[in-house]
Amino acid sequence: MANAFKDQVLAGKTAFVAGASSGINLGIAQHFARAGAKVALISRSHEKITAAAQTITDEGYEAIGMAADVRDFNSVDQAMAKAHEMFGKFDIVLSGAAGNFVAPALGMSSNGFKTVVDIDLIGTFNVLRASFQYLNRPGASLISITAPQAVNPSVFQAHVCAAKAGINMLTKCLAMEWGPAGVRVNAISPGPIADTEGMARLAPTPEMEKAIKSRIAMRDYGTKTDIADTALFLSTDNAKYITGTIVDCDGGSKLGDAGADALGEFA
Ligand code: NAP
Ligand code: COA
Repeated sequence: MANAFKDQVLAGKTAFVAGASSGINLGIAQHFARAGAKVALISRSHEKITAAAQTITDEGYEAIGMAADVRDFNSVDQAMAKAHEMFGKFDIVLSGAAGNFVAPALGMSSNGFKTVVDIDLIGTFNVLRASFQYLNRPGASLISITAPQAVNPSVFQAHVCAAKAGINMLTKCLAMEWGPAGVRVNAISPGPIADTEGMARLAPTPEMEKAIKSRIAMRDYGTKTDIADTALFLSTDNAKYITGTIVDCDGGSKLGDAGADALGEFA
């Protein structure tokens, strides 16, 4: 994939990216565009998503940004209809909208818990479900963004753990149901990624960041490009026999504590 941009591996393809006004998902949308795809972006904020699309058109690629809330199936469907009208059928759909805050279960209301489940899990169902009629089948690739919390129980993350665990299972169920139509369904589980809202919320101090890095096998945060490269791979025919998988791109962080205490003299 080293020459993915030069070779324009997504030339002639269309990608729809949900939750793309910032961070990891915007990085993925930019990557898709540089590899030749036309990209349609959605998020809640008209101002933010228009500016995000502008970063892509400023580079000379085709993009449109539209306000749509993934919690609202009809708003997603309307944005998809418009994207379909402009750019044709979708070859790639990426569902990455999410919300997170750090709070103990006793410190969140029913609505607080529901809000994150609605954005992450119901939102992912809405995006993938709504997209089906617009897909270029066979050959379409659907990718969701999950998180290590899906399989690692974490304090103060009950809402995110429950929602992302649901995404992992949804990925596998849809892969089974839609495989016969030639649609692949996978998810990427990023580890801690530098310069993102997610890590700003989970590890807001330099001390916390240092402590997290010291326990990761690769001893560093990942980059948005690491995740975008993974999404690009899953979007190409190089991955044409991969479906129903959760791809960890996390520097080994989900393996467990690889810190100096654990490694002892082998650190
Ligand atoms: P981010 O920049 O805050 O991205 C979240 C995006 O979702 C924003 O573009 C936001 O845009 C959009 N969004 C939120 N609610 C929405 C809704 N109801 N409808 C439509 N769009 C909505 O955060 P990030 O850290 O890059 O995270 C991106 C993804 O990676 C998430 O799925 C997250 O769980 C996952 N992840 C991140 C990390 C990490 O280290 N950062 C690690 C593991 C997994 P608007 O505000 O404009 O709506
Ligand atoms: N602790 C406890 N509860 C919280 C909270 C916190 N830190 N932040 C929000 N909530 C609760 C609110 O109190 C509210 O519940 P209530 O009605 O019972 O009071 C509920 O969550 C919804 O809050 P609201 O601000 O109305 O939701 P929203 O839909 O406007 O925003 C969030 C969604 C809360 C997830 C917001 O943080 C967001 O927009 N996040 C997107 C960016 C992001 O999280 N990026 C990282 C992705 S990993």
